[in-house]
Amino acid sequence: MMTNEDQFQLATYKKMPIAAERGEGVWIYTSEGHKYLDLYGGHAVAGTGHCHPHVVNAIRKQAGELLFYSNLVYSSARARAAEKLVSIAPSSLTKSFFCNSGTEANENAMRMARMATGREKIITFSGGFHGRTADAISATFLGKYRELGKPNVPGHLEAEFGNIESVGGLADDTVAGIMLEPIQSMAGVRMAGPDFYRALRTLCDERGIVLIYDEVQTGVGRTGQWFFAGTDDVVPDVVTLAKALGSGVPVGACLVTDAIAAHIKENDLGTTFGGGMLAMAAVTATLEAIEQDRMLENVRRVEAYLRSRLREVEQVEAVHGLGFLLGIEFKENAAAVHKRLLERKIITGTSSNPKVLRLLPPLCLTEKHVDEFVLATDANG
Ligand SMILES: Cc1ncc(COP(=O)(O)O)c(C=O)c1O
Repeated sequence: MMTNEDQFQLATYKKMPIAAERGEGVWIYTSEGHKYLDLYGGHAVAGTGHCHPHVVNAIRKQAGELLFYSNLVYSSARARAAEKLVSIAPSSLTKSFFCNSGTEANENAMRMARMATGREKIITFSGGFHGRTADAISATFLGKYRELGKPNVPGHLEAEFGNIESVGGLADDTVAGIMLEPIQSMAGVRMAGPDFYRALRTLCDERGIVLIYDEVQTGVGRTGQWFFAGTDDVVPDVVTLAKALGSGVPVGACLVTDAIAAHIKENDLGTTFGGGMLAMAAVTATLEAIEQDRMLENVRRVEAYLRSRLREVEQVEAVHGLGFLLGIEFKENAAAVHKRLLERKIITGTSSNPKVLRLLPPLCLTEKHVDEFVLATDANG
């Protein structure tokens, strides 16, 4: 089972010793017939849960009608997805651009910032992760990533997350855009105070800089709202999305304001697969499923319950993040907790902070699942 994969696939990932064969809601079933509670959601992708029936049916139906045609033709599937996505976004984000992944969404967002301003530099933050293609990895001041992307794209500047003075010192009239993960996930689920986001908005307005939220993880309901954009009354000029947007069908997107859209002309951006019918059917069905099952309310309620239950667990030092993007800080090493939980058939994630265990569960997780997790987490339990 696993041997074949190790033999024929590059060893670029440290894998958990399980083979996922089937999924349903918050559960993953392995080839050996075991059932795992998935609090990692396939790296934040399974927002609607695994194989949500509404999404599966929409994909099946679309697959029987038309798998793909490019953006050179109109498509009702694409029209529906774009309209639905814009309808749930803050009202100033009026246009969508579809691509295939998070890194590609970020590349296009930075390119749009440069087109809109006629400037080149981009400010991002230490601890932020934005992807592995050339421009996005050059914007990723986290661990070894920038090094892996050498030679880096020039014009990337690093500011300190949460420190507006550090941004102010860099944000001169050569800077096109400021891009941030509003909640830094990989860095250990770090948030800044509301004043930081508001000050960024003001700074960008004053200096003619495009503000980009990388919502590849925080978007599509994960925080208990559709997007982080709008939180603390701050709406960026561009939002990038991927991961949960297609429930597992690869798709990325940028949402932009009219002001940005006015600078983008025919042929300025593009990708063959962006806006393909299968992906578009998955997007519409994903957003409908979140709405129909009232998952945003569920996230807010279950987050509060999880936080209250974790107060009982002695080994837990703090809980960071928002909604279902949570970083649980332990007194011990989180890798040991991750391993112990896996033995107890619960999948979680680690982060670049050795003390922080990450949870990115499906948005349909309930109190009952939280009880199982808390029981299994308690080393004394
Ligand atoms: C915040 C953030 N941005 C961008 C990316 C890159 O997305 P993708 O792997 O789809 O290229 C990721 C992936 O983990 C991410 O977490």
